[in-house]
Amino acid sequence: MHRDSEQSISARLRERLKEARRVFVLTGAGVSAESGVPTFRGGGGTAVWKGMPFSVISSAEMVEQDLLEVWAWFDYRRGIVGRAQPNPAHLTLARWQDLFAEYTLATQNIDGLHQRSGSRNVLELHGSIWRARCLRCAARKDLRTKDTGERPPKCPLCGGDMRPDVVLFGEVLPADVFARAEEAARQCDICFVIGTSAIVYPAAMLPEMARGAGAFLVEINPEATPLSAICHESLRGRAGDLLPLLDRFVVQPTVGSQSEAASETR
Ligand code: OAD
Repeated sequence: MHRDSEQSISARLRERLKEARRVFVLTGAGVSAESGVPTFRGGGGTAVWKGMPFSVISSAEMVEQDLLEVWAWFDYRRGIVGRAQPNPAHLTLARWQDLFAEYTLATQNIDGLHQRSGSRNVLELHGSIWRARCLRCAARKDLRTKDTGERPPKCPLCGGDMRPDVVLFGEVLPADVFARAEEAARQCDICFVIGTSAIVYPAAMLPEMARGAGAFLVEINPEATPLSAICHESLRGRAGDLLPLLDRFVVQPTVGSQSEAASETR
């Protein structure tokens, strides 16, 4: 990938990247596809676990009806994402956090691959497969370090049953996390929407908010989505190819310029 592929990035986008100070990124399952994590839509199959569709096994009702089966399903998925490695898309997005004056990465993914690649302060709109939450007192437990294997896990504070700390069908997003994402979306000057079908709300509202507030909107996806119509640029291809390519046009800050730029905006 050299000169030819660089030519596929428009002069307008290069200029925007060079000037960008406040960057907001929304990612979806497509950003982890090249790490071997299956996306939700596009696989063709609807039954994902013991004959149940995703919307049934990953639902609030199922937590009430059969918590152990919900844990079995998420343990299975944790096995898949636990073996996956971050790909060049995750790595580029982690690198960008130190190159822009303000940078916010919000993800619909629960796989933790952004954090594994070094991203800090990731806004996890749909929670994390690596955390459990108490059904009684809402205390959380890190499953990477504190999982005893007991199912359902017991709350370290009150002894109650715990559930996966993810947003299930029929549930609302964590309000504080969404509010922070919304603020960043409304204030950014460039917004990237990467690897999401952009049909699940309210996450899909974030790029619309950014666009409405005047941001330059860039989509990275091999396929068109409902958002494509309002994007300034739609880059058709894989995130793991296109992000490293875009990275060549991001200007390295000179020493000291990051903190100066950040303080000017406060
Ligand atoms: P989807 O499975 O709906 O969409 C994945 C998108 O990634 C599609 O638009 C693909 O074209 C695109 N894609 C595939 N490979 C790609 C690649 N290598 N690079 C870039 N893009 C690629 O996944 P999401 O949009 O993330 O919610 O789904 C949103 C939500 O729906 C999920 O968070 C989940 C599900 O219901 C909850 O579980 C609450």
